[in-house]
Amino acid sequence: MTGALCMGLMAGIAAAPQQARPQPLVDAARGPTAIPDSTKPPVMGNQVNDDLRRTRNYAQQPPVIPHRVDGYQIDKNFNKCLDCHARAKTTVSQAVPVSITHYIDRDGHPLGQVSTRRYFCMQCHVPQDPVQPIVPNTFQDIDTVIQQSPTGNRPAAPARK
Ligand code: HEC
Ligand code: HEC
Repeated sequence: MTGALCMGLMAGIAAAPQQARPQPLVDAARGPTAIPDSTKPPVMGNQVNDDLRRTRNYAQQPPVIPHRVDGYQIDKNFNKCLDCHARAKTTVSQAVPVSITHYIDRDGHPLGQVSTRRYFCMQCHVPQDPVQPIVPNTFQDIDTVIQQSPTGNRPAAPARK
């Protein structure tokens, strides 16, 4: 604070210009709610629960979740998702077992149990809500692109040298 401003404040004069006031810390990802305050979470929607597995847009896409997950416990004591999706549980649950990539640690070593970096499933897998997209999306998957290309379903012939 400058000396002049300090003296101004001490004299009880509101001399400080607007921009000199400390701005409340705001994180763009959480909207205009200041960081020390709690946000008001939006009302929960009606999650898709039709149990129909969705086509992936590309090979490495984490598949979206076709069932409700609200209230599922995932913490250090218990992982509700693995209660059905762990390989050992799938006979009973008939869920899709997590793939081998979930058992590989960051150094590429396959582990006997799900890697800690794959423990919090909803970092990557998300349930769906039956809503209109807020932002238009013109993404086309590779199958559509190949179908619409002049060479049709066949791969393009290699260029002659
Ligand atoms: C009660 C058993 C059960 C629990 C608990 C469960 N799931 Fe599922 N999940 C299933 C079944 C069964 C399917 C197959 C489709 C269906 O029936 O909904 C499935 C499908 C999925 C799929 C789609 C897989 C694909 O290849 O398309 C994902 C992703 C998934 N679940 C993630 C999760 C996550 C994340 C959690 C925890 C938040 C979870 N599931 C909890 C039983 C379960
Ligand atoms: C870091 C991101 C990430 C996390 C965390 C994660 N997954 Fe996945 N998951 C993926 C990706 C990417 C795929 C698709 C490619 C693959 O199999 O690796 C996938 C595939 C799957 C599949 C389909 C497997 C198949 O063979 O079709 C299921 C089921 C699944 N995940 C469940 C889970 C569950 C349950 C958890 C939590 C224990 C979890 N995932 C955590 C990224 C993740």
